[in-house]
Amino acid sequence: MGLLPVLCCLTAFSFAQDMPRLEKKDGRFALMVEGKPYLMLGAQINNSSSWESELPKVWPALDDMHVNTVEAPVYWETMEPEPGKFDFGTVDLLVNGAREHHLHLVLLWFGTWKNGQAHYVPEWVKSNPEKYPREISSYGKVLDVLSPNSESNLEADKHAFSALMRHVKQIDAAQHTVIMIQVENESGSIGAVRDFSAPAQKEFEGQVPTELTRALHKDSGTWSKVFGADADERFAAYSTARYIGEVARAGKAEYPLPMYCNVWITYPVAALENRDHPSPGQEYPSGGPQQGNIDIWKAAAPSIDILAPDFYSESRDLYHSVVAAYHRDDNALFIPETGRGANFGAYFFYALGHGAIGFSPFGVDYTGWWGGEHKVPESLSENYALFKPMATEVAQLNFEGKLQTAVEQKGTPRERLHFGDVDAIVSFGFPQRDGVMPPGTEDQHGRAMVAQLGPLEFLVTGFDASVSFGVAETSGAAPANEQLEILQADEGQYVNGNWQTSRIWNGDQTDRGLNFRGPNQSVVRIRLHKLPLYDNSVRGSK
Ligand code: DGJ
Repeated sequence: MGLLPVLCCLTAFSFAQDMPRLEKKDGRFALMVEGKPYLMLGAQINNSSSWESELPKVWPALDDMHVNTVEAPVYWETMEPEPGKFDFGTVDLLVNGAREHHLHLVLLWFGTWKNGQAHYVPEWVKSNPEKYPREISSYGKVLDVLSPNSESNLEADKHAFSALMRHVKQIDAAQHTVIMIQVENESGSIGAVRDFSAPAQKEFEGQVPTELTRALHKDSGTWSKVFGADADERFAAYSTARYIGEVARAGKAEYPLPMYCNVWITYPVAALENRDHPSPGQEYPSGGPQQGNIDIWKAAAPSIDILAPDFYSESRDLYHSVVAAYHRDDNALFIPETGRGANFGAYFFYALGHGAIGFSPFGVDYTGWWGGEHKVPESLSENYALFKPMATEVAQLNFEGKLQTAVEQKGTPRERLHFGDVDAIVSFGFPQRDGVMPPGTEDQHGRAMVAQLGPLEFLVTGFDASVSFGVAETSGAAPANEQLEILQADEGQYVNGNWQTSRIWNGDQTDRGLNFRGPNQSVVRIRLHKLPLYDNSVRGSK
């Protein structure tokens, strides 16, 4: 064998190895970028900001927010102004800008769906509903939604998306600025629970495809028989998932980046007598990957790697239930869009503690959309400033299952995190007086992260929290004759993968736990040791 074939193989091998990809180990996920777990500290720009005129007002906000990744839309209507004629100017602007600002990029494909409607499809699609059929409501209304039950719609989107992925490969396969692709945006239909056009109706009256009933462990039958009262919505979910799964599959055949779908989730209905059930197609786009449709989407769209909830509520209970719904053995947790308020800083920690590969508030730029103020979401910006230098280490620790977080809850100002025979005790709010519970903070923004580096070594950070360590509480059994003591607590930071200590914490900074007060920028690496709690030769003689 000559040298050339060997070199070719090696190149192909290293190319495949370095591709951004999703990896799973022991039930946990990592987004691998350049071969290492990556924690995406993201921000999404406003919808109409991927323009040459606007991007100069985008990059400074991203820099100010300390993000490492920008999510930005690519519009089908401008990318394919005439059938088969492509203009990748927007993609090139985004890729070049991201590189100049040392950011990674997630491209959002605004194709057939944008918030449950078809606003970004090209004019030649919009104006030709005979060729590109619309969804029709149960009472015959022609909707601003392309039918997911139409092959010509699917072919048109697939063709465009494949061209996009081919172009991304051409300009970025060697550099991997682009690390992930969002396929469509908050898919599903607004205005109807499903398509009632004649072809869709015919499909609905047929049998549920066997691969779906098999995957869901259901008996075969028509949609109404298999899904009862939910048949319309589940049919919409299958149709939408199959369509988007096909679009993603065609794109991956060109360039297989990780691909996800963001979700306009189901929120509870406003309390009012007899309103107990949010209505698909009215309160949220019907057929998207909402909580109740996840299993169908997983079965019908295997080329979509992640179903990722957009989360905009201030309700922490709802947030916890949404994280639980999407953090599954077959689904990595990723929050691709979220709000900007104080709660959201705590949400980042909560997601991280549930293995999140990334997090991203929406609408971060200085284009003036938020009333002209040049402000980035503060609670998230302070998180990102803290995590950016150690994002790789944090992602690695999370992938290995060594990281936990504590997030303050109303009425619970103290929480214990268990690391085998060591507990980290997190207390929220200051001042913390001896002998009484900590005060908590006014708006429950206290949050902390503890990651285990060795049997008795931890990496710790947080906001308005103190963290102390103790021998794990044992229930029932006699407590071991042991106590923990601090050997050294180093404040510092990772710099290019190496820990650098800036000072040693002691005295007031460690006496009642490691104190992370106020707008903190501190990360502490603490080493503990164990010693007996009692000297039994003395204690026994008393
Ligand atoms: C969710 C959508 O996905 C975004 O594109 C944007 O429209 C936001 N909602 C606005 O809050």
